[in-house]
Amino acid sequence: MRTHFGTTPGGADVYLYTLRNGAGMEVAVSDYGAAIVSLKIPDPTGRIQDVVLGYNNLSAYLSRKNQYLGATIGRYANRIAKGRFALNGRQYQVPANNGPNSLHGGSTGFDKRIWSAEDVTDPAGRQLKLRYLSEDGEEGFPGNLDVHVSFQLADRNELHIGYSATTDRDTVLNLTNHAYFNLAGEGNGDILQHKVTLFASRFTPVDETLIPTGEFRNVAGTPFDFRKSTAIGARLEDSAGQIRRAGGYDHNFVLDEGEEKLVLAARVTEPTSGRVLEVLTTEPGVQFYSGNFLDGSTVGKSGRKYSFRSGFSLETQHFPDSPNQPAFPSTVLKPGQRFQSTTVYRFSSE
Ligand code: GLA
Repeated sequence: MRTHFGTTPGGADVYLYTLRNGAGMEVAVSDYGAAIVSLKIPDPTGRIQDVVLGYNNLSAYLSRKNQYLGATIGRYANRIAKGRFALNGRQYQVPANNGPNSLHGGSTGFDKRIWSAEDVTDPAGRQLKLRYLSEDGEEGFPGNLDVHVSFQLADRNELHIGYSATTDRDTVLNLTNHAYFNLAGEGNGDILQHKVTLFASRFTPVDETLIPTGEFRNVAGTPFDFRKSTAIGARLEDSAGQIRRAGGYDHNFVLDEGEEKLVLAARVTEPTSGRVLEVLTTEPGVQFYSGNFLDGSTVGKSGRKYSFRSGFSLETQHFPDSPNQPAFPSTVLKPGQRFQSTTVYRFSSE
């Protein structure tokens, strides 16, 4: 189902597409930023709760303070040091929009573009395909990049997000979705009691500007050890330099079984509701972000402020700054290749 969401100052119409499965799960996606605006999950008792942060009006998404809620992030998700990288002996400069570094595709990333919808007529109403053509030189990146992202609901209360992309010149690419979850329901306080398991024995520590140092550090004995289910808030005040540096969790975890086949990256449970989120991905890493930059300055769709740590993100991805880190899995895409990647959000209760 398609509804009008708003009109940009430039006069472009923006739409919301709502998908439903047979079990009562419902997701709304905006073609502005290919963003998940709401994700409603039924409980075994039949109660339905919206578990992602989002806004109920386009102008909030257009604001520069929008915090990327639910958006598709590209051309390069996460950071590129100083916005600089070399490819085939040529230097590229992309916008430094986060201190000295480039974050989430630069000043006008894929989260701020209007995507075009294909297959709007899917008779079952369970799938949406969006496409964006990122032109050669856009935000400083080389190559015309043709990007497709699909959102599909499965019966088992799963949202499948599929990415594919081709280019006509060598380029770098890192795509993710920036949903912020609160399994107690969006706007219902902070996420510190959520218990997280990450299937990762290593993470990539960062410097003062949140660029990976290149080290793969074992999580054992650190606040980054989520191999056993642990509350997000349990070790946040730990004086470990890495947590302080990022103002909480904002780190890339190296998945033990990544990459390429679809593997379980994370499992999150919320004790009061019993709701469970599992994240599966074909990507090699996941950025676990504890909502440290949420500061109450934005108001969510149910009229409540999104305060400090009122949502968390699990951004499946290639590692930050890969274009400058030869030891990281490559993010280079060449003509003739097709980039493909899948992430699944699976919901259940326990
Ligand atoms: C990612 C980054 C964070 C922050 C959020 C959105 O998680 O690593 O530093 O930018 O996105 O604000």
